[in-house]
Amino acid sequence: MNLIREFDFTEWNPKISAATSQQAIAALEGGFVICLPHLPFVLTEDEKRFLSETWSDKKSKNISLRPQGGLKGAVGSEADLKDLRAMIQRYSDQATQLVSSLFPDYVSNLVAANTSLRPFEVEWRVSSYRKDDKRLHTDAFPSNPTQGTRLLRVFNNVNLYGKPRVWRVGEPFDAMVAKYLPRAKNMFPGQAWLMQKLGITKRQRTPYDQLMLQLHDLVKADINYQRNSPQQSVDFMPGTTWIVYSDQVLHAAMSGQYMMEQTFHLPPEALYQPETSPIKILESIKGRSLGLAS
Ligand code: SIN
Ligand code: FE
Repeated sequence: MNLIREFDFTEWNPKISAATSQQAIAALEGGFVICLPHLPFVLTEDEKRFLSETWSDKKSKNISLRPQGGLKGAVGSEADLKDLRAMIQRYSDQATQLVSSLFPDYVSNLVAANTSLRPFEVEWRVSSYRKDDKRLHTDAFPSNPTQGTRLLRVFNNVNLYGKPRVWRVGEPFDAMVAKYLPRAKNMFPGQAWLMQKLGITKRQRTPYDQLMLQLHDLVKADINYQRNSPQQSVDFMPGTTWIVYSDQVLHAAMSGQYMMEQTFHLPPEALYQPETSPIKILESIKGRSLGLAS
């Protein structure tokens, strides 16, 4: 099993042939990680100072730039924060260029969400098992239901000291689903409505979100699966960019420090092959719609 597909692009808006484009699309939507080992996010000498934990407010695990422009999780003088924001914004712009070049049909439906700088070493982080991203998982968030919208992420290791970001990548989505879907519990009647009413969720949790959360939790809780399921370890070296559908690819971050990340949202219908989306896969197994009750 090798779920990593390497391409040697060296620019954020590469000119690529139709054949290469087809390969990239098939890889991404097929649940592979697109790895670009020769695509660094270049920091100016001045910006290198931002690779430090001192800019974090220590309350958030990331420094995030919201698409509306707000910078969250950072502390510093107004001048410093202006420079920090400009650096993160440039990453956002380059990640957007990259996705637009590789997946041109996405452009009209692609929505840029947060951009983050992740300043902390991953290896020493302690958290409850549900929040522990050192355990294999597909992304699903209790308070932030996607309702089926895809989570596309562009990562870059910006470590200056040669330290890789080490991930584990697990088996294909459908293999994991086959093992855990039978154990996934539904919501109780009225739960989705109540959670939204109480502000626990930002929008209504759909049957799809419930299943994705259950899969996330069941997989993370299963120590045997974590140790023994088919998986591979990957070292993303500094200067590497990688692109992944994090709602589809089982992943775990084992060690590493200083990474940039851009999240995009995309409706499943906007994919080249919508049937590869988690919502379509789960709906086809369940034989019913998992969207909002109409
Ligand atoms: C994750 O998405 O689970 C963490 C990725 C990382 O921080 O490398
Ligand atoms: Fe994750």
